[in-house]
Amino acid sequence: MNLFHEEMKDDLLSRGYSRRQMLRTAMMFSGAATALTMNPELAFAQDEDAAPAGKMVRIGSNECWTGPMAPGLQAGTAALSNSNRYSPNGELEKLIKAIAKVEDVPEDHIAPYAGSGQILSRTLAAYCSPTKGFVQADPTYDSPTRVAKFLQVPISNVPLTADYQHDVKAMLKANPNAGVYYVVNPNNPTGTMTPMADIEWLVDNKPAGAIVLIDEAYIHWSKDYPHNTASHLVRAGKDVILTRTFSKVFGMAGARVGFMMGKPEMIKKVGLFDRGDRPTIPTTACATASLGATALIEARRKEMWGNRALAIEFLKKRGYKVIGESEGNMFMVDWKTKSAKDMQAALKAQGILIAAPRWPSWPTVGRVSVGNKAEMEAFCNTMGKMQT
Ligand SMILES: Cc1ncc(COP(=O)(O)O)c(C=O)c1O
Repeated sequence: MNLFHEEMKDDLLSRGYSRRQMLRTAMMFSGAATALTMNPELAFAQDEDAAPAGKMVRIGSNECWTGPMAPGLQAGTAALSNSNRYSPNGELEKLIKAIAKVEDVPEDHIAPYAGSGQILSRTLAAYCSPTKGFVQADPTYDSPTRVAKFLQVPISNVPLTADYQHDVKAMLKANPNAGVYYVVNPNNPTGTMTPMADIEWLVDNKPAGAIVLIDEAYIHWSKDYPHNTASHLVRAGKDVILTRTFSKVFGMAGARVGFMMGKPEMIKKVGLFDRGDRPTIPTTACATASLGATALIEARRKEMWGNRALAIEFLKKRGYKVIGESEGNMFMVDWKTKSAKDMQAALKAQGILIAAPRWPSWPTVGRVSVGNKAEMEAFCNTMGKMQT
């Protein structure tokens, strides 16, 4: 089997990949490594509550508590009934047009994928190498770490500041010659925001040839959205790749739709590692119709803010330390006297599924996702009982 296509092979060779590292890269993006243990990309969406047994309160994976918005469901169902055609009505092009309109970014700067996780892993392959490392905050979204490890890319973990922001100066210092500087805004798992001025500083000071990968999976939940997105950096032709997903506010995690925004040459470079994975026609149509549902997006934001406040107030009254000021649909709690592992197990035994602990630098801190009101009340009730 030919795992490489020529352009991918030339690209990897020119960036100093060894034969062994090339093979791993090709395995990852050719579909040859299909076992979860072999392919970190396939493990991306398979975190703690992929398929919990019985009736659990699922507040572990930063999903939305409810499904796609009504206009999305309607459009998706209509598209499903026309799915005898590969492209019944130019669905992918329509999604790109809709994104261009909402984000004010040219159409040739937009590329949809079957989930934003795919873009993160391909960006690492495209811009990192054995000599061009990956720099990220600690703690942050951990899936790209698995990919960087698999690709044998050097990783720098840079602690968040005391305000739980990305420490951009320390990130540059940690590796002044990296390939990718990863900024998650709002950050996962803390939900905290990094000021745009800091991101802009990193973009202006990073080494030539490197990119800043800005992951805005949770941006719709944040207070200042849409005024705090980094899309102006894409518009200005800066060396940034900006990723978004439909897995969060749009309630489509299982439907798998995300997109990247960046210069056309960046889209091409990342696309070298494509397996041709695009969202399906029904999910694409669902995404397009959801994107412009401004009033519904606003309603979900407000609902989440209320449910998050309810849980955080409860915890604070009980004397728990809640980390920073989350603007995402998750927050972190320092259990202090208990390990995150023990707390997660204790809550699970009571039917409450929070995130599996995987931020080793913070061993007593757990992440709770924000569900609907009933779910947050169930969480609070259980916490109340556990304390007494
Ligand atoms: C920060 C961040 N980026 C990306 C993703 C992956 O999203 P997707 O479902 O689009 O692959 C997640 C998923 O939880 C995430 O937390």
